[in-house]
Amino acid sequence: MSTPTQEPGVWNAIRELPSNVWSSVFRNPLPSTDLERASTSFTNFFLHIHPVKVNRHTLRPSYTLGLGLISTFLFLILVVTGVLLMFYYVPSTTQAYDRMLDLRGTVAFGIFLRNMHRWSAHGMVAMVFLHLCRVFLTGAYKKPREFNWVIGVALFLVTLFLSFTGYLLPWDQLAFWAITVGTSIAAYAPVIGKQIQFVLLGDANVGQEALLRFYVLHVAVLPALLTMLIGVHFWRIRKDGGLSRPEKTGDSSRRRGDAENKRGEDAELPAAGTVTLKKVYGMQGFVRGPFLKLGNTPDDSVFSWPNLLMAELFVLVLTVSAILVLSLAFNAPLEQPVNVMHPPNPAKAPWYFLGLQEMVSYSAFWGGVGVPGILVALLLITPYIDRGTGGVGRWFARERLLANTIFLTLVVLNLIFVAIGTFFRGPNWTFVSPF
Ligand code: HEM
Repeated sequence: MSTPTQEPGVWNAIRELPSNVWSSVFRNPLPSTDLERASTSFTNFFLHIHPVKVNRHTLRPSYTLGLGLISTFLFLILVVTGVLLMFYYVPSTTQAYDRMLDLRGTVAFGIFLRNMHRWSAHGMVAMVFLHLCRVFLTGAYKKPREFNWVIGVALFLVTLFLSFTGYLLPWDQLAFWAITVGTSIAAYAPVIGKQIQFVLLGDANVGQEALLRFYVLHVAVLPALLTMLIGVHFWRIRKDGGLSRPEKTGDSSRRRGDAENKRGEDAELPAAGTVTLKKVYGMQGFVRGPFLKLGNTPDDSVFSWPNLLMAELFVLVLTVSAILVLSLAFNAPLEQPVNVMHPPNPAKAPWYFLGLQEMVSYSAFWGGVGVPGILVALLLITPYIDRGTGGVGRWFARERLLANTIFLTLVVLNLIFVAIGTFFRGPNWTFVSPF
């Protein structure tokens, strides 16, 4: 007859409850060795998006300025505050504006929530644009990152459209007329312009159908698309061998002439002699101590835990704090309810489309469709035309003088148009002095 196995007593189980719960959630203790640092990034659901090691150069705040991360965190803030706002908002022309008033007057923290959503949205448009500029000015779009640049251009356009569709939802004068102007710019597209406008509005004018369409695009279609694109964007960063960096950063993969990082996500790991890099992961299970024991000379890379994680947490705290302060200091505008008989004069598009609107005032087709279309096409083909490999990973590299000059000229021109549209245009789009 077999003896019964000793079951732990109930009292012991209760006594050990906190530590048992903790260790069931966090399987590893806080890492103190290289092996544990690697395994933390590797086994944690939230951290495994990171490579085990990253190049030291890419962690420098002066290189990325944290702009991609800030954009990511702003998007997360937008999702959280947006879902909370959805509990109150009704996409109906008879209710939407009243719901805005409720948020302002009766819902606890309603105005604060709306402020956070609005300032994060504006911030995201600005940060994504600055991130695009950073990537261009450091030559980070070059081989092997061409396709991630293309994904980036798509992210930029979706971000603009996401912000634009949100503009209509308060259903106040600003919303109504900004969208009226914006969608009429779309109508200038050749051949299918009118159809695009009709698909967007669901009607001949901005009304209930348009509100519903913009709502569905804003809360479901575009956030889902953006989430998917961000997922691909991050995955490509790993597959392209981490962030761009200059040749001389001492990374072993570069020294071995593997400059294009074709090894995929393993590229952040040090070389392992004759052992293939895939096996380095496999060996973690039974090799104790630092990677040095594998015969690897650590190169210019550091463990993601804690270096990258701390940098990310820092950027997160900074981003959330900035949005909280802005939302405490400034209220999102809410103008009079829609009055289709009284357009404000001038009716202005959102600031990020004011450059377009200014150009439209010179030529409807070229300003609204021709020039923006050419600019987007130029952005998309840039990495496939600019094939030189010099100057990658450095700001304003001398080797990239021509490309950077063309790019900066276009950026400055666009900013001038936005500034003119914002500050120097008055009734009937005539020139006025803001001073
Ligand atoms: C929703 C918008 C976007 C998000 C959330 C995002 C996020 C990120 C993050 C977190 C990084 C890594 C760190 C950094 O550079 O800050 C990154 C890198 C990169 N992004 Fe974006 N990005 C967005 C839009 C764009 C745009 C508009 C472009 C260009 C058209 C772009 C092109 C790239 C490229 C090529 C890299 C690799 C850079 C390198 O290797 O140095 N991204 N992105």
